[in-house]
Amino acid sequence: METNTNQENASLDIPVIDLSNQDEELVARAVVKASEEWGIFQVVNHGIPPELIRRLQEVGKKFFELPEAEKEAVSKPKDSMDTEGYRTMYQKDLEGRDAWVDHLFHRIWPPSRVTYRFWPKNPREYIEVNEEYASHLKKLSEKIMEWLSEGLGLRREALKEGLGGEMVEYLMKINYYPPCIDPDLVVGAPDHTDVNGITLLVANEALGLQAFKDDLWIDAKCNPSGIIVIIGDQILRMSNGKYKSVQHRATRDKEKTRISWPVFVESSLDHVFGPLPELISGEDSAPKFKPYVYKDFKFRKLKKLSLD
Ligand code: OGA
Ligand code: NI
Repeated sequence: METNTNQENASLDIPVIDLSNQDEELVARAVVKASEEWGIFQVVNHGIPPELIRRLQEVGKKFFELPEAEKEAVSKPKDSMDTEGYRTMYQKDLEGRDAWVDHLFHRIWPPSRVTYRFWPKNPREYIEVNEEYASHLKKLSEKIMEWLSEGLGLRREALKEGLGGEMVEYLMKINYYPPCIDPDLVVGAPDHTDVNGITLLVANEALGLQAFKDDLWIDAKCNPSGIIVIIGDQILRMSNGKYKSVQHRATRDKEKTRISWPVFVESSLDHVFGPLPELISGEDSAPKFKPYVYKDFKFRKLKKLSLD
């Protein structure tokens, strides 16, 4: 059966989970259910101060509004094999449309993996705001992974440990999508699943992120101080298929510039990950995926090579 991937459904929304609810059991169950059924959800009242999120957006926007020559101070070096730095990227999506975005990548955690060379010096508060955001975001992502581990019937630390424990890396990305007169010809980010463990994303007021569910593209609406959680390939594989890595894409707005700030929580490149051993030890629990060194996994996915 052919699926019409351009069909949209405006009446459905991704799940919204209020983390301030005193009943932690209930919150944990909602996170587990959303990760099984959707692979994407929004968390609100998550403990990260709305003012900090507002400042994160302000300093990022100011950076992208600088003249091109100033942004090039943090350009990704041409010969670099790493992702860090600022650049403009063109791609084709599956239907042959142009996908175009300016973006900036830099790691924000752990401190041993932070290279300030790729952090904007202008505006001046950029560094302070991003460091504060990193420490809050780490707590939030670890909390979510604890609930997801318990949802697998495992110890709370299981998924964090499977991803690399204290060596887990937090990679900040800022996507800057200028308006586009014909959004049918130019997309923002082509249809994909995230290669990492989980992604925590904030965005400005322009709509654009869409998730694929039951053969339809659903707008992932986000409250200004809410955070979108996206389950990536590493959690899908570590959970032996219980949690979904959601297919998603970003469209362009006709009038507004859209900016998003996903943070990718991922293994370090040399870490080996795969279905958690506790999940594949029983008789009727065959592993659905092979273990991979994260570097090889990322490379194969980027080159669209087969993955077992
Ligand atoms: C990404 C991504 C979506 C967005 O960068 O991986 O999915 O809303 N971005 O910008
Ligand atoms: Ni993505």
